Amino acid sequence: MAGILTSFTGRDALLWGHQPLKLAHGLGDQALFSRPALARLIETYPREHYSLIAMGSPQDSKLWREGDLTGLPGEAVLDAIAKGRLWLNLRNVSGVNAAHRRLLDEIFAQLHQAIPGFEASKWENGILISSPGAQVYYHADLPGQLLWQIAGKKRVWLYPNGAPFLTQRHLEDIALFDVEVDIPYAPWYDEHARIFDLAPGEMLSWPLNAPHRVENVEGLSISMTVSFSSPAIRRAEIVHLANGLLRHRFGIAPKSRRIEGPGFFAKAALQKLMRNSGWVRQQRQARREITFRLDSSGQAIDLMAAE
Ligand SMILES: [Fe+2]
Repeated sequence: MAGILTSFTGRDALLWGHQPLKLAHGLGDQALFSRPALARLIETYPREHYSLIAMGSPQDSKLWREGDLTGLPGEAVLDAIAKGRLWLNLRNVSGVNAAHRRLLDEIFAQLHQAIPGFEASKWENGILISSPGAQVYYHADLPGQLLWQIAGKKRVWLYPNGAPFLTQRHLEDIALFDVEVDIPYAPWYDEHARIFDLAPGEMLSWPLNAPHRVENVEGLSISMTVSFSSPAIRRAEIVHLANGLLRHRFGIAPKSRRIEGPGFFAKAALQKLMRNSGWVRQQRQARREITFRLDSSGQAIDLMAAE
């Protein structure tokens, strides 16, 4: 397979993971990302692995509703998203589809070859298809992230991965409560952001946990989102979760964020004991309910309205 990062240089290898980095990619040439292939993927995608979200009006823009594709042809879904205020997230595509798994494995083989010291050990991808006016609010992710633009244009704001934009307490809360978008944001943060316009054929990489937000600026947006882990990332997640438990469950302000030594192993044991407990499950019970479906013309039908 030809190189997927089409203009990667030695300078990019030095910057990777340390600074935000916009790079050229050739995923648009892959048959898997043609419109018919994507339409086919959508119409065969297992229910438990996708989320279809309708966004509220600008006045109550934080009100998201979750819906169902109800067997619509993939082309009709793409048309509905192009016209509406929707986004469709096909989660864990590499786990569901063998051809996507092979392509993603090849991408990571190329990254490992090109970047000395890059040590990803697990990776998965999703495909995010969203309306021209869609946006993703300020948040941070615990795993490493890459954003690959296939169609449409996005603007991405990337913020420093330290205080006040992101604190250890925020990381603990994300690990414990499983809700990335609840970390605080103020418009003045934007003065400290780096802003990238992402067009088809471009991808973005950024430092671990760096908060970001995204606005679609032109056309139906199709992106591949990649998340990856490594032994160090996994250990950091264990510490965030254990420190979150200490703080919220036991009222102890955690002092150490070490990812080795006896303190680390005590925390690893603690989070293993607690992570599936009723208390943690209850804290995460911000469950989304299915409240609409798309009809044959691509209109959202409210399932919650009284019959
Ligand atoms: Fe993200």
